[in-house]
Amino acid sequence: SLAAFPIGVAVNAGFENNSIINSGTSAQQQAVVFPNFNQMTAGNIMKMGYLHPQETTFTFDQADAFVAFAHTNGIDVHGHTLIWHADYQVPSFMTNYTGDFAAMLKTHVQTIVSHFKGQVVSWDVVNEALADDGQPTVDNILRSSLFSQKMGQAFIDQAFVNARAVDPQVDLFYNDYNIEAGGQKTTNLLALIDGMRSRGVPITGVGFQMHVTIDWPTITAIESSLKAVADRGLKVKISELDVSMKSAYTSFTADAALRQQQRYHDIVAAYLRAVPAAQRAGITVWGVWDTDSWINQPGSPDWPLLFDGNFAPKPALQGFKDAL
Ligand code: XIL
Repeated sequence: SLAAFPIGVAVNAGFENNSIINSGTSAQQQAVVFPNFNQMTAGNIMKMGYLHPQETTFTFDQADAFVAFAHTNGIDVHGHTLIWHADYQVPSFMTNYTGDFAAMLKTHVQTIVSHFKGQVVSWDVVNEALADDGQPTVDNILRSSLFSQKMGQAFIDQAFVNARAVDPQVDLFYNDYNIEAGGQKTTNLLALIDGMRSRGVPITGVGFQMHVTIDWPTITAIESSLKAVADRGLKVKISELDVSMKSAYTSFTADAALRQQQRYHDIVAAYLRAVPAAQRAGITVWGVWDTDSWINQPGSPDWPLLFDGNFAPKPALQGFKDAL
């Protein structure tokens, strides 16, 4: 792998079983992943709707196969994610739940964390709970969601407490996007984690998704946001890094490639400056090759990752490595 700390990549279902995934084969992905990365995140199959589709049904088969394959190949797994408000990820039984919501959510968290105890190094316990800048809030800082409406900020506290109760070792992260930008959402992140820590909630660290563009946010904002969390003694992870080009480019020109190389370099360098070695939970890129990226869509092409549509390393990979 590239560095002394975890360097991760998100992969999609089928990574381990010789399938064709978004026009690339698993073998092509594996050939790129194994030499360059030492941690993986499941792009989708460890989200709540996959693992817990009905109240009394947990489906671990796909995730177990993925985790076993990772370990066979010497790669650690980061768990993503126990609680996420996004409509298409919330099982409908939760949306429609009429019983004791907190008890139901505790069972959800503890069943999954217990199942993967010793198998994953860390969890995104709660994903994307903070309100976007200018949006309505619950408890002053949270987005309005099924979970915040039912329980307020207690849904976050309890998720961490419940996860810790069944796995004393695993690292527990709060994960979100745009918290690296230095705006109101960053301020609210710090209020969230300061509040959690003052209440004794066992949070290990913060995952910065880091879905950035070629020129937003500034490196200064990124570095100071990472540092604000590191200064609190928490671990810091860049959990879903990609560098979107489509706001500035309609094709991936040589100029775009060079600017992206510099951008990857500068983000990794900012992470190393902001976060002391003992607090580096690592840097994960959100996908293996450009064709597979979630932001590269038909009619809206993008080139955000480290390997191109032919699995060839891009200048971005060199930029990443040069910063280490
Ligand atoms: C994305 C996946 O990459 C897509 O395949 C899926 O359709 C939607 O979710 N923030 C997150 C990730 O925390 O789970 C999201 O992943 C990207 C945004």
